[in-house]
Amino acid sequence: MKKFIMLILTLLLFSCTKGRESVSLIIYNGNDPFINSMANNIERESSDLFNIEKFDSKNFQINQNEFINQCIDNKTSLIMLNPVDRLGVYPIIRKLKANNIPVILFNREPLKKDLDIWEKAFYVGTKGEQSAQIQGEIIYNLFGSNPLKLNNLDKNSNNEIEIVILKGEQGHQDAEIRTTEVVNSLKSKGYKLNILVTEVANWKRSEAYEKMKAIINKYGNSIELVISNNDEMAIGGIDALIESNMFQDLDQNGIINKETEPWIPVVGIDGLQEAIILVRNGYLAGTVVNDSVLQAKAIVELANILLHNKSLTQLTFDIIDNKYIMLDYRILQ
Ligand code: BGC
Repeated sequence: MKKFIMLILTLLLFSCTKGRESVSLIIYNGNDPFINSMANNIERESSDLFNIEKFDSKNFQINQNEFINQCIDNKTSLIMLNPVDRLGVYPIIRKLKANNIPVILFNREPLKKDLDIWEKAFYVGTKGEQSAQIQGEIIYNLFGSNPLKLNNLDKNSNNEIEIVILKGEQGHQDAEIRTTEVVNSLKSKGYKLNILVTEVANWKRSEAYEKMKAIINKYGNSIELVISNNDEMAIGGIDALIESNMFQDLDQNGIINKETEPWIPVVGIDGLQEAIILVRNGYLAGTVVNDSVLQAKAIVELANILLHNKSLTQLTFDIIDNKYIMLDYRILQ
């Protein structure tokens, strides 16, 4: 009986998936929580439309190149590509063009000239500057609207904000744009800034934790604000700040009471599930939602159009230069 039910289930599964297009999803690193949630969302969004085969490049371009060759040999219908080296995709796009395989790159933006060599190469991403401007808004809500007379978050009352910046991977468009633009946005609001240090922690919680420990040793209580390029690094930073008693949950209720308990503003980007809880509990002063559901929807919708040779005019998302879908961030404070 059991065997019979298994047979029926297998036949059912086979008849559902048979005849469906097979799409390859190649991510840069499965250890990256943001990318993981993006990949899960892509799989969920496409579950009624096509089959997805997922590959994890484990942060090695050489692995990714292997996977791409394998997908070409297996005659994949389309590749969704989160490149390890965003500036090195030229030979990949050329190869996909030669094999007439459409490609949707995401999250790690290639050069326009590389994208331009193949009519069926696209990029789905976010408006980098906007994430920094929203971080600027969160900080404005914290430090007050009078840049010449800051509120009590300016611990030494010098009307300057003493800042630590935790930066993502060097050369990643988001790390570069978020870092420069958040500073520009705060300056344009009239704030005087004293950037104590900008430390690269490669998007990683553990690296940010270690770096933050050293920063606290050096700058201790003079730190007034931590700006992080993503939530993972913000959480690593918070862990180090907790260890140094710069956050103290005195009544041990799991929540930081900003009126009565020691804390310091830390601002992230992504809106990871864990970060949302930390915002609620007062550990993270705010984050900027990098909407992986929306990005997944855009990637899947575009893939579906390309797979069925439909016109790009059928997209429900704006497409720039017939190449780019750039989505909005939003505030969470
Ligand atoms: C995200 C980071 C992530 C990176 C990976 C960024 O857009 O904010 O959390 O590590 O993409 O490429």
